[in-house]
Amino acid sequence: MCGIVGYIGGKEKKELVLNALGELEYRGYDSAGIAVMKEGRIDAFKATGKLKNLQEKTKNFTSEGDGIAIGHTRWATHGKPTEINAHPHFGQHSYIVHNGIIENYREIKEMLTSKGVTFLSQTDTEVVVYLFEHNLQTSKSAFEAFEKTVLSLRGAYAILLITTIAPNSIFFAKNAAPLIIGKNDEKELFFGSSDAPLIGHAKEVCYLEDGQYGVLSKNEILLFADKKKVSSIFRDLPQDKSYAQKEGFRFFMEKEIYEQSRVLGETLMGRIKNNEIVLEELDEYLFDGINSIKICACGTSYHAGLAAGYIFERLAKIRTDVVIASEFRYKEPLLTPDTLFIVISQSGETADTLEALKIAKNAGLKTLAICNVDNSSIVRLADNTILTRAGIEKGVASTKAFATQVATLWLLSIFMAQKRNSVGKERLKSEIDTLLRIPSSLNVDNATHEKLRRLSKRYLHGHGFFFIGRDIFYPLALEGALKLKEISYLHAEGYPAGEMKHGPIALVDSKLFTVALLPKTMLYDKTKNNIEELSARDATILVISPEQFELADDFIKTKNSSHVMNEFFEMMIILQLLALEIAVRLGNDVDMPRNLAKSVTVE
Ligand code: AGP
Repeated sequence: MCGIVGYIGGKEKKELVLNALGELEYRGYDSAGIAVMKEGRIDAFKATGKLKNLQEKTKNFTSEGDGIAIGHTRWATHGKPTEINAHPHFGQHSYIVHNGIIENYREIKEMLTSKGVTFLSQTDTEVVVYLFEHNLQTSKSAFEAFEKTVLSLRGAYAILLITTIAPNSIFFAKNAAPLIIGKNDEKELFFGSSDAPLIGHAKEVCYLEDGQYGVLSKNEILLFADKKKVSSIFRDLPQDKSYAQKEGFRFFMEKEIYEQSRVLGETLMGRIKNNEIVLEELDEYLFDGINSIKICACGTSYHAGLAAGYIFERLAKIRTDVVIASEFRYKEPLLTPDTLFIVISQSGETADTLEALKIAKNAGLKTLAICNVDNSSIVRLADNTILTRAGIEKGVASTKAFATQVATLWLLSIFMAQKRNSVGKERLKSEIDTLLRIPSSLNVDNATHEKLRRLSKRYLHGHGFFFIGRDIFYPLALEGALKLKEISYLHAEGYPAGEMKHGPIALVDSKLFTVALLPKTMLYDKTKNNIEELSARDATILVISPEQFELADDFIKTKNSSHVMNEFFEMMIILQLLALEIAVRLGNDVDMPRNLAKSVTVE
């Protein structure tokens, strides 16, 4: 999704801003651009495709000495991914970069068009720079014009604007899209739409709040909200950049699959004491008066939520609904105060999930975020947060984030079971013992990986995949299908194994690939029957199970069937590696799949 960076200082600005955009590449984008202002002159460059195209375009341009710069990676929402639609957009004197969507851009565009403005692009962003220049005509200062402009916008935005009318300043505004200011001891100032481009440059950062706007110049940070000056609060920025290296793996996604054992250890760290789950981050009274749970999330996080639905009801014996955030928002949901509202998000910036959280908060519900990114918008809005501690995930296709989400939700379900006395002591002990052993069972087995690598060549051409499973292995099947779709671009569907006979079985023939999850600990015989029904109709079947299955065309043997969650996590790794190896064989960009963005900050 779109990324924003900005800089005020004396370094080579082009290099600095291009490198900063490089840190945001993993989020997905389809064009990029920069604008550099020095001694009152602005030079701007844009290019479609990857950043190397922009680097090529700017190779003869230098920008040493004091000045300012802004940069942007665009993920198309309004208008195709063309150079004209790429940011920065410009008026007569000013350039702007923007993340988000301006909802009232049509009204503004009509008003400006009636005043003679001609627009070059199809974007919503371009209207903002022209509105600013229009407001300049009736304002005493550039700041007044910017303030008027921002206050007339509706929608989501993180904006940086530079203008020759007020050289050496960057005007900024934030609403429902992240924007961070950074500073260091050398008096350099930075902007970023996430921490990543600021690490190594800024020492302290200020996470702007919704509705804040202002202007930054070398000597001053002026911050406002609703026409009133507010103070900026800076905090130290951790400087750990190790996530940026692939450490010998071919792709970040592969590295992140292998990291799961370690990061799950982090997820559990300090949260199990004396055979009890301890979640000190939660409000002591969070569960008082709570009789049901509603979980809202998107994509992979939604699958983690679906898995949690099974665990919560089974262990904590609490009614749990799981809803896709984009559906929840407009269904006029009935919300009662005895419901705990849980949102799950890797990035903490997903617009649909964030908006769902706002609805729940406005309805007076207690809220809890399960999130990987501290200080993200979702974390700041929720009353309570449990951080999943997966570390920065660079692969657009989520892997370790999913594993840590499921582990965190399992942890939470045991915690609730403790509080509600919903299961006996022995059961609690066995859950905690298993949970403690999960990190070591997540080590990737090299032989299995190699087998999947070889096997993947048989699964490149067919007319689609069905991933099937029952119970908690159904959300895992959904996740396996999503992983494959995202990075291989092959059609795949996740389906409850028992539901195939109600329709999809009509699709079955030898070119239909079925990946069947056949755990020992959960409905083994029932699932086996469902697989046999497919085998009888000549489907090509890959079975993943601890028990040999004669009718399988291909078979991956799992090792640990002592607990349902051991089976879940072991099969999860196999599905992730299968998707990876198929995508590698197809020659796809595994870390940055087409059309996808790491953090989806539009509705
Ligand atoms: C996962 O592989 C995806 N790329 C995507 O489905 C993602 O899980 C979804 O967009 C939600 O993101 P979030 O967890 O950051 O809220």
